[in-house]
Amino acid sequence: MSHWRIVFSAISLLILAFASSAFAEDGLAIDPATCLGCHSDKINMAAFAASAHGRVACTSCHTEITDLAQHMKGETKPSQVACIRCHAKETTEYNDSVHFKNNVRCVDCHTNIHILQPWGRTMDKRVVVAVCLRCHTQQTVYQESVHGQGVAKGNQDSASCADCHNLHAIQQLIPGSREEREFTTKVCVRCHADEKLAERNGFSTFRVTSYMNSFHGRYYRLGVPEQVAGCADCHTGHTVFRSTDPRSTVNPANLVATCSRCHKNASLDFAKTPVHANQGVSIYGIDITVDRIGFLIALASAVIFSCHGLINIFLHYFVPVKEEAEEEEKKDDKGDHFTRF
Ligand code: HEC
Ligand code: HEC
Ligand code: HEC
Ligand code: HEC
Ligand code: HEC
Ligand code: HEC
Ligand code: HEC
Ligand code: HEC
Ligand code: HEC
Repeated sequence: MSHWRIVFSAISLLILAFASSAFAEDGLAIDPATCLGCHSDKINMAAFAASAHGRVACTSCHTEITDLAQHMKGETKPSQVACIRCHAKETTEYNDSVHFKNNVRCVDCHTNIHILQPWGRTMDKRVVVAVCLRCHTQQTVYQESVHGQGVAKGNQDSASCADCHNLHAIQQLIPGSREEREFTTKVCVRCHADEKLAERNGFSTFRVTSYMNSFHGRYYRLGVPEQVAGCADCHTGHTVFRSTDPRSTVNPANLVATCSRCHKNASLDFAKTPVHANQGVSIYGIDITVDRIGFLIALASAVIFSCHGLINIFLHYFVPVKEEAEEEEKKDDKGDHFTRF
């Protein structure tokens, strides 16, 4: 620091030391105006005051600076700010995250800490996407997807990075792990099974119910998601497009390739197996009314036959063997049996 600056700083320190402020009245040792007397080259007073931390004293974060004379002499080296003191929830989530493990710090995402704008009031998803993409440049393809486009247009219902990965509790996705296998479906179901959200956005929760009734979905429900395909295996996580879009992995032209990732030598016919049987078509690919009638016939027969069987058992064991009963049994033995299917 040049000679004149030290002199200037000393003078401003003297003046500022006598200046009273709300912070001084609050009992805080050194008020922000004092600090800014020397640090206004890097921190703008008005911008700081308008920031999310505008009402937080400088020394609440830079706790080591308690003696300005010592600080001036360079004897107190401010260490890294412990955000945890005031943001326990976010810190706890973060401490278990892939970013913590890779030494991505709070301030690496929350840059410009002194002019940081409050986000919690609007929770604008566009801000989140902009932050994540600063480092994850490979994921910029997301911006073209239905979700990316939705968020860009300000649709707060659409999926931002944080809707699928969380804001702070972000986990690494190890391919093949149980967590990763479950993730590929769980993240989508959250919104696509939400009746109100679906209605607002003009789609149907039927996509989830039909998946859950499909071969893949049944395994998912059984708790073995590692055995089958989840939503994102077919739709991807970042390049989700409508099936009519040629860029979509579920566009008819790309289906064989999509299924072939797991079903070797999948044919065009195989790829057309309905994953989300259309409304009105059952998971076996036949008309739902025919399917239901078939099911009712099967159910009715089962009930009739089992009633008959139960009556027989009851008669056999509990009714004293009288002539009538014996006759009844004989009649049965004559071959009055039903063949089970
Ligand atoms: C009289 C002038 C003066 C005042 C008042 C002052 N500082 Fe400093 N500050 C300095 C000087 C000089 C340095 C060391 C030179 C540098 O790195 O810019 C410094 C360094 C710092 C640093 C470390 C900068 C870095 O790059 O690592 C922080 C943080 C800091 N001051 C915060 C404060 C806070 C908070 C206050 C109020 C409590 C305050 N300062 C008050 C002069 C001052
Ligand atoms: C919410 C906590 C917080 C508050 C409040 C805060 N700071 Fe900081 N400050 C930080 C963090 C964190 C860094 C380190 C930034 C980094 O590493 O990128 C920092 C860095 C600095 C530096 C180093 C220069 C720089 O910009 O990198 C100075 C000087 C400083 N702060 C002064 C102040 C002054 C003066 C105030 C009050 C007007 C203040 N700080 C209020 C958290 C805070
Ligand atoms: C001394 C307490 C304190 C410390 C330390 C502190 N903060 Fe804050 N922080 C606050 C307060 C108070 C608010 C305003 C809360 C509100 O508006 O509800 C805030 C707000 C925020 C917000 C915006 C919240 C929102 O709703 O959008 C972020 C982001 C944030 N802090 C990050 C940090 C980071 C990163 C650090 C560490 C470098 C840090 N804070 C250190 C007290 C603190
Ligand atoms: C990988 C990036 C990243 C890291 C690391 C990170 N944050 Fe955040 N955080 C965000 C984003 C993105 C938002 C929302 C948009 C914004 O505020 O910029 C946010 C929001 C917040 C909020 C407001 C939350 C709310 O619900 O209103 C607080 C408080 C906060 N972060 C504190 C912290 C603290 C403390 C740490 C470190 C323990 C931390 N963050 C680490 C990305 C991160
Ligand atoms: C400051 C840079 C930075 C920012 C900003 C950032 N990340 Fe990261 N992220 C990393 C680094 C470094 C890693 C660990 C190395 C890797 O896997 O790429 C990582 C890892 C990840 C992983 C795990 C990747 C895997 O291989 O399984 C996910 C998921 C992730 N980040 C999501 C996000 C989201 C969501 C945001 C926004 C809220 C975000 N990141 C913001 C730097 C960043
Ligand atoms: C609709 C949900 C969804 C959204 C939105 C989303 N992701 Fe992902 N992300 C996934 C899925 C699913 C995977 C892959 C999991 C698997 O199969 O291994 C993934 C994987 C990742 C990975 C690991 C490397 C890779 O590409 O496989 C990173 C890093 C990542 N996402 C970051 C981001 C960032 C940054 C954003 C926002 C720009 C974002 N994600 C938006 C669902 C999503
Ligand atoms: C945060 C909620 C949310 C999450 C999580 C989410 N979506 Fe969406 N999805 C939406 C919304 C909202 C739309 C409508 C977007 C628009 O038009 O703005 C949409 C649209 C779609 C569409 C186009 C549907 C149509 O009929 O137009 C597909 C396909 C889709 N999502 C698949 C997925 C998949 C696969 C996942 C998981 C990897 C997923 N979504 C996760 C909210 C979500
Ligand atoms: C085995 C692959 C596969 C799985 C798993 C899968 N889908 Fe699909 N999805 C498709 C195919 C193929 C289409 C297009 C044909 C159709 O409409 O059935 C489609 C269509 C959709 C559509 C309508 C998009 C449009 O524009 O037509 C949505 C929304 C959707 N799926 C969501 C999901 C959700 C949510 C899950 C998980 C619960 C899921 N999908 C699981 C293959 C799959
Ligand atoms: C991520 C891997 C994966 C993807 C992608 C995938 N499947 Fe599957 N699928 C499986 C597994 C694993 C099974 C159970 C093992 C088996 O019987 O082959 C299965 C079983 C099936 C079955 C029932 C058993 C059979 O072989 O007839 C059908 C039908 C099926 N998948 C259709 C599809 C269609 C159509 C697509 C593409 C739209 C597709 N799958 C994409 C993993 C996948």
